[in-house]
Amino acid sequence: MAESRLRRALGFRASQSRAPGVVQELGDEAFDLSYEEADGDGGLPDPESGSPLGEHPMASPGPERDPEASEVKTETDGRAEWGFEAGEQIAEGRTAVRSLGGGSRFEVYLVWDDHLFSLAVAKMVRPELVEKEAVLRELREEAEVLERLAHPVIVRSFDTVLEGARPHVLIEHLEGPTLRRLIRRHGSLPLEQLLPLAAHIAAALHYMAAEEMVHLDVKPDNLVMSVPPRLIDMSIARTFEHAARLRGSIGTDAYMPPEQCDASAHPGMVGPASDVFGLGATLYHAIAGAVPFPRPREARDSEDRLVRFPQLVEAPQPLPSGTPESLHDLVLRMLAKAPDERPSAADVVLGLEPLVAALPRRLALARRNTRMRF
Ligand SMILES: Nc1ncnc2c1ncn2[C@@H]1O[C@H](COP(=O)(O)OP(=O)(O)O)[C@@H](O)[C@H]1O
Ligand SMILES: [Mg+2]
Repeated sequence: MAESRLRRALGFRASQSRAPGVVQELGDEAFDLSYEEADGDGGLPDPESGSPLGEHPMASPGPERDPEASEVKTETDGRAEWGFEAGEQIAEGRTAVRSLGGGSRFEVYLVWDDHLFSLAVAKMVRPELVEKEAVLRELREEAEVLERLAHPVIVRSFDTVLEGARPHVLIEHLEGPTLRRLIRRHGSLPLEQLLPLAAHIAAALHYMAAEEMVHLDVKPDNLVMSVPPRLIDMSIARTFEHAARLRGSIGTDAYMPPEQCDASAHPGMVGPASDVFGLGATLYHAIAGAVPFPRPREARDSEDRLVRFPQLVEAPQPLPSGTPESLHDLVLRMLAKAPDERPSAADVVLGLEPLVAALPRRLALARRNTRMRF
């Protein structure tokens, strides 16, 4: 592995952190993260993303209510919320600041932690699910993955509480919009933001692969555009061994490679190349402002896999004509149907190197000697 080239390829990080446009954007949005927003739907279904959980066993948690439901204060869209007020204690030494939103099984709260003496994020099981063994197992597995991984681009965890009425994992608070939010706001991402994002997330995936772990849900909702950008949400991450045993589908329809859409038909093939496809689909979305394999709204519920997952048979829609040729080629190779035809995550970083070198801002900053050297 050309390690020094890899490090050089990532050496623009310092330039990126000094890019005034980027910092401004982050500053504007720093306290405006919301899962509903980040999900891109504000409560409405997003025709492009599809089901966030595919055929995950907990995709439909069922109607039972928990005995602790007396603590439940509000209910929105059929999903019970904890409804903590600012200043309310959510656990020993841990106080709610405000809700950041949530998905079908978890609610995400910004909290103050007395022990850290810092803000942090509590990803908490929804009140009606705290006694569901499968949801608790998912939280425990996510916590284990977070404890195992230590990388500058991957979100870190501080504590896990599995016992008691409010199971949660405490993670660092990241400031910045999700990539989904930026795409929705601006349509697409400028190359100055897109290329560093691509290289950093590919570096994180290279590290995960070296740790024999796969993320399986790389998508715009799970990338926070802080500096450097960060990969979050290990809720379906797993070891290579566990991933190779997958059958059926798990992940988010629009960003899943063929082997993840229909793992039974591709036994043993879900692995690190699946995350490269997820990143390719994410970059495609950020370049084109649309997902690579669009489908009609009703297709998401189709029993026919070829209808639900156009990526099984169709070629991606063309990227916008102004896309640099080498970026266009790289992204399309990441979206190859066969996992062994995709570049490795490290090859993605190296493939981005000449494009990063051509960024005008980098040259200007290099002249002012502000570039980080390795
Ligand atoms: N560490 C964090 N810092 C800031 N916001 C976060 C953090 N973790 C999650 N979020 C926000 O909460 C949302 C849901 O968190 P995520 O871990 O992706 O849960 P889910 O498994 O429900 O998708 C994210 O899309 C993001 O908007
Ligand atoms: Mg998520």
